[in-house]
Amino acid sequence: MKAKFSLIGASLLGALALAACEVINTADADAGDTVVEKPQFTADGQLVRPENYYEWIYVGSPLTPNALNGGEAGFPEFHNVYIQPSAYKIYKKTGVFPEGTIFYKELQLVLRSDHEDGSANEASGRGYFPGAFNGADVAVKDSARFPDTNGWGYFNFGHHAPPLAKTAKALPAEACAACHIASATKDMVFTKFYTRLQ
Ligand code: HEC
Repeated sequence: MKAKFSLIGASLLGALALAACEVINTADADAGDTVVEKPQFTADGQLVRPENYYEWIYVGSPLTPNALNGGEAGFPEFHNVYIQPSAYKIYKKTGVFPEGTIFYKELQLVLRSDHEDGSANEASGRGYFPGAFNGADVAVKDSARFPDTNGWGYFNFGHHAPPLAKTAKALPAEACAACHIASATKDMVFTKFYTRLQ
């Protein structure tokens, strides 16, 4: 009798475990199809700056220092680029940036310049080392809102030390989208610089 009871007990437990797995799998499948960290817009269409972007997937840091750009680079900082985890997952599965994808470009100045070329000496050698944060540019894919710029909207939340703006208006095509239309690698994004997105 005892053996029979524990057998029933074991199969009940097994069934429960299976049911729990099914619940988890369904949740996974849903998360895989739509962007979870959705862009937030105000009633008048401004984008709310995502504050937890640095917990997302980091894809790369192009750097265009002043010293290599006639002393005046448009963006002399490291351009640290992040994408939401769910958008990243969908892109890796489908090769397409889903609606609601956000690219957050955090601008980060070099730590210090010891030399004319803007480089500094540190324990690991001479080079460019990350320092203070200095602004943010953001791109959002929303084909319904931004039909005239290939489905992407472009926003600047300030090009200076924090604090940055909490919301920003979409910038006109000539300010941002035009250059992305002309030169980006894939669907308005410069994927050629982001090895993880290739
Ligand atoms: C003259 C060309 C040009 C203009 C104008 C331009 N960008 Fe870009 N953008 C680039 C290039 C090149 C990269 C990737 C390399 C880098 O960051 O240096 C990039 C990268 C980005 C990224 C990271 C995702 C991606 O597409 O690679 C964002 C976000 C972004 N730009 C937003 C903006 C915003 C907002 C504006 C307008 C204020 C703007 N850009 C104007 C050339 C441009």
